[in-house]
Amino acid sequence: MGVDARILGCTFSSMLLFGGVSWSNPGFGFVPTDEVALQGPVFTQEPTNLVFPLDSEDRTLRLVCEVQGHPKPVTRWRVNGTLLDEAQDYRYRVQDRDLIVTSPDRVRDVGTFQCEATNSVGTILSREAVLQFACES
Ligand SMILES: *[C@@H]1O[C@H](CO)[C@@H](O)[C@H](O)[C@H]1NC(C)=O
Repeated sequence: MGVDARILGCTFSSMLLFGGVSWSNPGFGFVPTDEVALQGPVFTQEPTNLVFPLDSEDRTLRLVCEVQGHPKPVTRWRVNGTLLDEAQDYRYRVQDRDLIVTSPDRVRDVGTFQCEATNSVGTILSREAVLQFACES
């Protein structure tokens, strides 16, 4: 009777100890911080060469630029290598990241267009999209 009690008591206390250890295991319930890895800008879509028909019905043309990265990149356009100031010419407008040219002019608007994307990691420049005008038919 005395022996049984001792064994029972011993088993009981080791179960308590085991339970206590797993309960307090610091590996459980650890919540990772929501830090997202930094990523430099990467183009998912770059502007492409365009030949705008002079007799086109369209009054606007669009040069596309899509970019990914973390933090979210800021984009700007370069025309003939120079940063575009939209305030300088009402015919240029940036929508999302795309450049919209209204009433394209075959004399003034020929040239190269590039999208430039920047975040805290770095800056990238897209390929040069050449805009040309041609007579159709
Ligand atoms: C780009 O450069 C060409 C050649 O110098 C010029 O004719 C054209 O007007 C320029 N385009 C723009 C949009 O400034």
